[in-house]
Amino acid sequence: MFRDVSACSTYNYADALYWDARYIQEVEFGSFDWYQRYSALRPFIRKYIHPNSRVLMIGCGNAVISEDMVKDGFEDIMNIDISSVAIEMMKKKYESVPQLKYMQMDVRDMSLFPDDMFESVIDKGTLDSLMCGTEAPLSASQMLGEVSRLLKPGGVYMLITYGDPNVRMPHINRPVYNWKIELYIIPRPGFQKPGGAPPLRSHLDPIPLTEKGLLPADYVMEDPESHFIYVCKKLAVPTDLPSKSADSLANDAMRR
Ligand SMILES: C[S@@+](CC[C@H](N)C(=O)[O-])C[C@H]1O[C@@H](n2cnc3c(N)ncnc32)[C@H](O)[C@@H]1O
Repeated sequence: MFRDVSACSTYNYADALYWDARYIQEVEFGSFDWYQRYSALRPFIRKYIHPNSRVLMIGCGNAVISEDMVKDGFEDIMNIDISSVAIEMMKKKYESVPQLKYMQMDVRDMSLFPDDMFESVIDKGTLDSLMCGTEAPLSASQMLGEVSRLLKPGGVYMLITYGDPNVRMPHINRPVYNWKIELYIIPRPGFQKPGGAPPLRSHLDPIPLTEKGLLPADYVMEDPESHFIYVCKKLAVPTDLPSKSADSLANDAMRR
């Protein structure tokens, strides 16, 4: 398995204490959305996630995406984060919004939730944080095993990340999850091509992946700091694959 440290700073983004301290420090700023705001993600979210369905937002931080989704008609969003500071702030902020629920929880162990509980799981920057930790492959495998367990068949895990297919597909494209994966690539907010030239293609179109799950050799990334949206649809469990616990998935990952 790859350990992707390309965008990890010296901070430990996988450490709850780091995030608690950061959210205390940033309390005066109120909220911050990593990578992209809902307005840019809306076409993808509305395409794959029904507003009446049960959504799990993992590593919600103090982002406003869940609030924006509720304003857009979403009815049931469970938000979790490892930082108790972020969760307490968000609980208070949204105490009068019944569509939004907040719980402090580690994505690597979401055993409080039963199997198949959610139609969708949204992850904006949380797998990325785990990939910066010391036990990155193990953490990623524990988290993705839990995501897979919580998704209903036909449900969708939407991963919004800076990680390109080289570093993310080895983690998400595993037979045991049985996910059908589509990839979109969107420029970072405010990106302009030099000279204001028009984009080569619409970023609303999925990028065809090679058989190995990589970008086509002739693919040109217009914004080198683009964000990647992996839409992972959980297919029905095939009968020849044993159903595995998060622990045994993690052990498999460590053996690689
Ligand atoms: C890069 S921030 C993204 C926050 C938010 N999703 C957004 O888009 O702005 C990563 C978030 O993941 C949370 N996080 C890190 N490790 C976690 C874990 N093991 N379980 C749950 N949340 C975690 C952090 O507390 C932080 O809020």
